[in-house]
Amino acid sequence: AGTLAGPEGHGALDVVLEGLRRLEYRGYDSAGVAVITGNGIESRKKSGKLTNLLDELQANPLPESLTGIGHTRWATHGGPTDRNAHPHLADGGKLAVIHNGIIENFAELKRTLSAQGVEFVSETDTEVAAALIGELFRGEAGGDLTRAMQLACQRLEGAFTLLAIHRDQPDTVVAARRNSPLVVGLGDGENFLGSDVSGFIDFTRRAVELGQDQIVTITPDSFEVTDFNGKPAQGREFQVDWDAAAAEKGGFASFMEKEINDQPEAVAQTLLGRAGLDGKLQLDELRIDPSQLKAVDKIIVLACGTSAYAGQVAKYAIEHWCRIPVEVELSHEFRYRDPIVNANTLVVAISQSGETMDTLMAARYAQEQGAKVLAICNTNGSTIPREADAVLYTHAGPEIAVASTKAFLAQITAAYLLGLYLGQLRGNLFTGQIRDILADLAKVPAKIQTVLDDSDQVKKLARTMADTRSVLFLGRHVGFPVAMEGALKLKELAYIHAEGFAAGELKHGPIALIEEGQPVFVIVPSPRGRNSLHAKVVSNIQEIRARGAKTIVIAEEGDTAVQAYAEHVFYIPETPTLLAPLLATVPLQVFACELATAKGYDVDQPRNLAKSVTVE
Ligand code: G6P
Repeated sequence: AGTLAGPEGHGALDVVLEGLRRLEYRGYDSAGVAVITGNGIESRKKSGKLTNLLDELQANPLPESLTGIGHTRWATHGGPTDRNAHPHLADGGKLAVIHNGIIENFAELKRTLSAQGVEFVSETDTEVAAALIGELFRGEAGGDLTRAMQLACQRLEGAFTLLAIHRDQPDTVVAARRNSPLVVGLGDGENFLGSDVSGFIDFTRRAVELGQDQIVTITPDSFEVTDFNGKPAQGREFQVDWDAAAAEKGGFASFMEKEINDQPEAVAQTLLGRAGLDGKLQLDELRIDPSQLKAVDKIIVLACGTSAYAGQVAKYAIEHWCRIPVEVELSHEFRYRDPIVNANTLVVAISQSGETMDTLMAARYAQEQGAKVLAICNTNGSTIPREADAVLYTHAGPEIAVASTKAFLAQITAAYLLGLYLGQLRGNLFTGQIRDILADLAKVPAKIQTVLDDSDQVKKLARTMADTRSVLFLGRHVGFPVAMEGALKLKELAYIHAEGFAAGELKHGPIALIEEGQPVFVIVPSPRGRNSLHAKVVSNIQEIRARGAKTIVIAEEGDTAVQAYAEHVFYIPETPTLLAPLLATVPLQVFACELATAKGYDVDQPRNLAKSVTVE
């Protein structure tokens, strides 16, 4: 986060610290700030979470200032030490730089700069960028920070967002972006920069989205955008529709708990205005020509982590409704394997943040091969929807907890709307069918609320399982990705070894893991389903029970038959099979959150993770 506060505005340090607090989910292994004061640049930085920096600032306060930058780090080059924390200083301490990304040619630049006599104190690539900007500022750029940044960016390779301040231009912050995120916030007599809008949401709702390879210079009352050669460029202004309160815990102990409880609203908002009760879908926001969508002969979903599981759920529905083959692939695998993509392929890139570098690069690759890319995304102003040919926003509101919950349900909802829309457009679904499915979807938010209201028993069970070393999750059909998501939540939040399996695959190997007392969650499909899935899963339960497993079953209300095979049963309301993931996931999220809390872990910021991973 980088921030500038104008004379009429807030103190820079307060603004920067507030921004860091809101952006800490992006990485939290160290934090630092730098401000311009009467004496020049002053900086404080500390390894560990933001509170360590706040303690340091208590002990060693910084004076009032109008210009400042700050950073929270997720370590790439160099461990999370005080010294490697940003900002990094250069030009004899007169210049401070923060950076997000990876500078790929840093070693070579470092050699050249060292040969010129520059000394380095950290192991980071950032310090090299700072030194380069410093050298250029003093030399070729003639004391102009914007020019120095332009010249530096021409020499840097990799992905980066860089922010710089210099003592000699005390009311200016210069920023550059290549592939990593950066947004401008426009205030009244004060302007802001942030990795995303939540960094300045307390101060303004007016934001400007920047393009690739652009540089922006802000002062209290101006902002100017250029490309790396200094040619003027334009940003797109937009209004932030999240309010600051939406990014607060709102009475819950953690963002994780709040966001789990936000889910009825997240699904309802994602449906709002799109799903007409007459069975007609309003998705005019999709900018792809309908004739092109009709010609699509394959869909490839690209995503990472939880978003990829949302894609796997959607595959079942879209193939069923539209009869188009759907592949789901992890973004980071996709472009390195020579995939078959052409103009008739529709790529659906699912990303909560819209900034995941793996997904961004995969989507670009697909576009280069001639495919159209449709983004399902939760963050306005982010890079993936900006570059995509079409976008369907999820309206889950800001998701702050690092592990994803409400975005997952909203992504499934949005992908389903897309599937129904394609089914409508291509004539695979009749209006009556769409109307019925939309009517069922409209009932989902209230049913999620029921699951939440009934979650006391799940929590109670979670508290008794704090010492568990391993938990397995089984599901079939749409229950399979739900099982994997349940396992992922437990790994992320409670650091417990967990695996999700297709229940039918169990007998082909994983059943060897079952021993006396092994806890196994089983997501049981509705007994009302027309296929024999329910009976198959019940058989799977018996197979593991016979080998000593302790079974914890998620089943549909009224499915009393499963009680005979389960240690614990948690019921979800009746709903069509394809919509069941929107309900069955919820107790698994609650379970992971409660168990991690019982172990005393920070459920919002699990170790080693970051929410938007903007490096490959
Ligand atoms: C990170 C987060 C996960 C998230 C994944 C994809 O790994 O820790 O919670 O699911 O990125 O993020 P995206 O923003 O692209 O949905």
